[in-house]
Amino acid sequence: MTDEQLLAKPRAANTSAAQDSHYVHTADLRYQTGSAWIEAVLGDFNGFMQDHAAAEKKAAGMAMSMISHYPDKPELVEAMSELAVEEMSHFRDVAKWLHRRGTTLAADRKDPYILRVRDVIRLGRDVYFLDRLLTAGIIEARGAERFGLVADALPAGSLKNFYRGIARSEQRHLDLFESLARRYFSNTLVNARIDELLDIEAGIAADIPTRAALH
Ligand SMILES: [Fe+2]
Ligand SMILES: [Fe+2]
Repeated sequence: MTDEQLLAKPRAANTSAAQDSHYVHTADLRYQTGSAWIEAVLGDFNGFMQDHAAAEKKAAGMAMSMISHYPDKPELVEAMSELAVEEMSHFRDVAKWLHRRGTTLAADRKDPYILRVRDVIRLGRDVYFLDRLLTAGIIEARGAERFGLVADALPAGSLKNFYRGIARSEQRHLDLFESLARRYFSNTLVNARIDELLDIEAGIAADIPTRAALH
């Protein structure tokens, strides 16, 4: 199939043509994060928050790199601009939490999960674009799952509420990437690639050693 054949006619995500789509939710992830992960996080919560801050900063950087790569797609540029601002506001909030807790940001570390997920992005103009959108969405789904687990595990209070809000915004970001994918590609293509990527991501998530980090 050529790149041209892969590309669907652009359309709004809420037209009837999109009705055969099923929007991915955290429940669709094929590896469920277990209790060992949440125990590791609660055992070194400042360490977890340092990694979380770095993840928000990288998410903002990813949104900005999409703008640089696809300057000719107005809908994408506007969505990624908003996303970059929102991810930086998450970064600012996590940094403030760290400072309030008497600690600081830490040096960025390599995130083996992100590296491996991004490694499955295929080369070729259109499949590359599709895979960038869908891997970004699946990374958001994993974030939504894990921030939700953190919120569930924390005692009632402002930090729990903060993580509840973060989990909700990651789910919104997943919906955003998926609707962009469905805006630029056919549902058939998007559904088939999501199915493959969910399997690949589950294998990677299961394989990453447990530590007090988002991944
Ligand atoms: Fe975020
Ligand atoms: Fe996000």
